[in-house]
Amino acid sequence: MAAAVPLLCALLLAAAAALENGVARTPPMGWLHWERFLCGTDCTAQPRRCVSEQLFTEMADVMAAEGWREAGYQYLCIDDCWAAPTRDERGRLRADPRRFPGGIRRLADYVHARGLKLGIYSDVGNKTCAGFPGSYGHYELDAQTFASWGVDLLKFDGCNSGSLELLAEGYRRMSLALNKTGRPIVYSCEWPFYLRPMQQPNYTEIKQYCNHWRNFFDVYDSWNSIKSILEWTALHQDSIVKIAGPGGWNDPDMLVIGNFGLSWDQAVTQMAMWAIMAAPLFMSNDLRRISPEAKWLLQNKEVIAINQDPLGRQGYRITKDKNFELWERPLSGRAYAVAVLYQQEIGGPQNFSFSLAFLGNGLACNPACSVRQILPSSRDWGVHNWVSSLSVEVNPTGTVLLRVAAL
Ligand SMILES: *[C@@H]1O[C@H](CO)[C@@H](O)[C@H](O)[C@H]1NC(C)=O
Ligand SMILES: *[C@@H]1O[C@H](CO)[C@@H](O)[C@H](O)[C@H]1NC(C)=O
Ligand SMILES: *[C@@H]1O[C@H](CO)[C@@H](O)[C@H](O)[C@H]1NC(C)=O
Ligand SMILES: *[C@@H]1O[C@H](CO)[C@@H](O)[C@H](O)[C@H]1NC(C)=O
Repeated sequence: MAAAVPLLCALLLAAAAALENGVARTPPMGWLHWERFLCGTDCTAQPRRCVSEQLFTEMADVMAAEGWREAGYQYLCIDDCWAAPTRDERGRLRADPRRFPGGIRRLADYVHARGLKLGIYSDVGNKTCAGFPGSYGHYELDAQTFASWGVDLLKFDGCNSGSLELLAEGYRRMSLALNKTGRPIVYSCEWPFYLRPMQQPNYTEIKQYCNHWRNFFDVYDSWNSIKSILEWTALHQDSIVKIAGPGGWNDPDMLVIGNFGLSWDQAVTQMAMWAIMAAPLFMSNDLRRISPEAKWLLQNKEVIAINQDPLGRQGYRITKDKNFELWERPLSGRAYAVAVLYQQEIGGPQNFSFSLAFLGNGLACNPACSVRQILPSSRDWGVHNWVSSLSVEVNPTGTVLLRVAAL
């Protein structure tokens, strides 16, 4: 428990200024094509899976019709591979004319007409990660082009950035260029991820320029990937947790729930822990074909309320005891979200007991509190007092998510 005291002090001291574009006051939510649809460009062979106008209009229809928009998933985002291989005669980026016959402007209108927002992708260097034209040398023009199309979010990748100086300069210049358009555009960066192998990122500075930023490798559709993201986050929490807040968030990458690689308990863990981490919630899955269970989890109002809590403080791991991890996240109204994660990958469910006095540096349940279980299923645990212990049963690789509210 010793780690909790200095961490709480650090959290109270944090007051880094965020990018002032008025957006991302809570972690942005939406859908992003990359993890599920990658760089599919062959629409003849795979008409429903290629990166195309059809993919995004179909996803927009489902988001508007099946409760996704109401649940908060607002940004429909294009990743790499949307562009034509060359710029137009005036140097502007353009969408691949075969796959996006109406262009991005028409797609943005379509998406806006359904009460959603559109995200797009570019890169700080000469080429994107998949080899499409990057924004180097065109930051202002590209920002103007995106704004003129009605784009609401830019994911700006860091491949082919040249040098650390050009990388940092490019991220700063695109942020200023977006600002100059006058359009509020969420700015999603990968700056610290590309910097980290060489240099300790200056998160105070990154938060002044970006609305969220990736720190670690791309998420894959596997438990190993989810596990490594959580472990990386816990190991670096002293430097990254305090910086997160309204307008600026650490981004552990997409939700892969609804795909192929996670068991039910692992999907519950991803949803619960992305809420604890105040993570942007971008699903990458096929909303046209998704199980009712995955939909229930992804649209769970109580989990989303934790993710979107207006206090905007990121949670952290308070203890790791054998294979159990206990995490907490301070919420508005003196409440806490608490997650018990069981990492053992053999055997069956196990009980984990902990004293409520451990939570919130002793303040979460002082003198008493109500405890509600949110995942894996909702259940009221009633009123407890400061000296109570809780025992929770957790499945291997699963998580129990609780909401503890002081009385
Ligand atoms: C541009 O930056 C200024 C100063 O930080 C801010 O007040 C303004 O709202 C920003 N505009 C946009 C569109 O981001
Ligand atoms: C992009 O290409 C130009 C021309 O070859 C070069 O001068 C510039 O340094 C490159 N930029 C990056 C970020 O590599
Ligand atoms: C980090 O960036 C901030 C804001 O730009 C600056 O004030 C501070 O000196 C930087 N810190 C370091 C260690 O370079
Ligand atoms: C966990 O504790 C509860 C309540 O004491 C008990 O009913 C249950 O059997 C225990 N589970 C395991 C796996 O020991």
